Amino acid sequence: MIKKNNLIGKRVENELNLHKTHPGLRVDKPPFPQNLIIDLCNGCNHECLFCMNRLMTRKVKRMSFNFYKKVLKEAKKLGVKELGLYATGEPFMHTKLEEFVLLAKEMGFSYVYTTTNGALVDEKRLKKVIDCGLDSIKFSVNAGSRKTYKTIHGKDEWEKVCKNINFVSNYRDNQNLDIKLSISSVVTNLTFHEKEDLRKKFENIVDEIFFSECDYQQGQMLANEAIVNTIDHSYQVCNLPFYRAHISSEGFLTMCCVDYQNYLATADLNKTSLLEAWHSDLFVDMRRRHIDNSLEGTLCFNCLNSCNSKIMPLNKSLAHAIDFKEFYNASKEEMQITIQERKNI
Ligand SMILES: C[S@@+](CC[C@H](N)C(=O)[O-])C[C@H]1O[C@@H](n2cnc3c(N)ncnc32)[C@H](O)[C@@H]1O
Ligand code: SF4
Repeated sequence: MIKKNNLIGKRVENELNLHKTHPGLRVDKPPFPQNLIIDLCNGCNHECLFCMNRLMTRKVKRMSFNFYKKVLKEAKKLGVKELGLYATGEPFMHTKLEEFVLLAKEMGFSYVYTTTNGALVDEKRLKKVIDCGLDSIKFSVNAGSRKTYKTIHGKDEWEKVCKNINFVSNYRDNQNLDIKLSISSVVTNLTFHEKEDLRKKFENIVDEIFFSECDYQQGQMLANEAIVNTIDHSYQVCNLPFYRAHISSEGFLTMCCVDYQNYLATADLNKTSLLEAWHSDLFVDMRRRHIDNSLEGTLCFNCLNSCNSKIMPLNKSLAHAIDFKEFYNASKEEMQITIQERKNI
């Protein structure tokens, strides 16, 4: 196996530094990006402590194949090369994931990747999605033991996930496939002591194990204060609205990959084209506000400042508005109860 080390780390670093390396992209009407993220289904089978998915009030929706096909045709014409099939939910919750991958590869997208908790699938399904041409699969394993995994993910599926990772590794070796296989793990103060266990268990069979800090998910999961020591606030600039496009499971163009309530949805792609939406007045205005650092009243403000000031959705008709202050208080309480409950089981 030829290991493809530190690709995720480099990718994250490149994204964070884009405003320095490519200042020309930080304009209100940038060209359509080469990277597109599509959330095929926003529902999830797991309930990770730190993830807003378990608390979101947005309805679960699976993207239709016809809509996906329409968007891919537009994306291809616009020069998109990389397609990420995941965002706020679990991609394997969509029973057609394999067909979506196959279409993307048949249409010539050069890099089709996904991120999964890996617990819904069996070997047959994994084999199928790999055979359809998936270029990269990342398993999210947010602990290093069965017990802690259950506390974090809320499901006792450590063994199943480990077996699935082993299967992908053996399958690609036996078939001599070029698919990238990696693991990411969100570190909290409940799990940092298990980093080495996770590393030892998988370092010889995956390309990369990427540990990331647990964040507040755009200021939506401030309740994560209970499970992290400090969060690095040095990250003051967001490049996402300039270089990457995101489509929600409902078919909305949104500015961010963790927009659980669609507060940053700018247009309905069932009604408008991808390019029109990318250059819509609302999106252009938000990019100007990013450039001028005047984001008060938006989710972006709470994200960049890790706070819960009063915010409004950009487009009320596309969002599921909630009272974030109320939500924050309730989620803080809920977090304490859930941790205790999960530790006691
Ligand atoms: C929201 S999940 C969706 C895809 C899939 N369900 C999974 O878990 O891989 C995408 C990634 O976000 C990460 N994530 C979720 N909550 C996070 C948080 N509070 N801080 C950092 N990463 C987080 C997950 O661990 C996962 O790798
Ligand atoms: S991190 Fe992924 S697996 Fe965990 S709850 Fe969120 S969406 Fe589900």
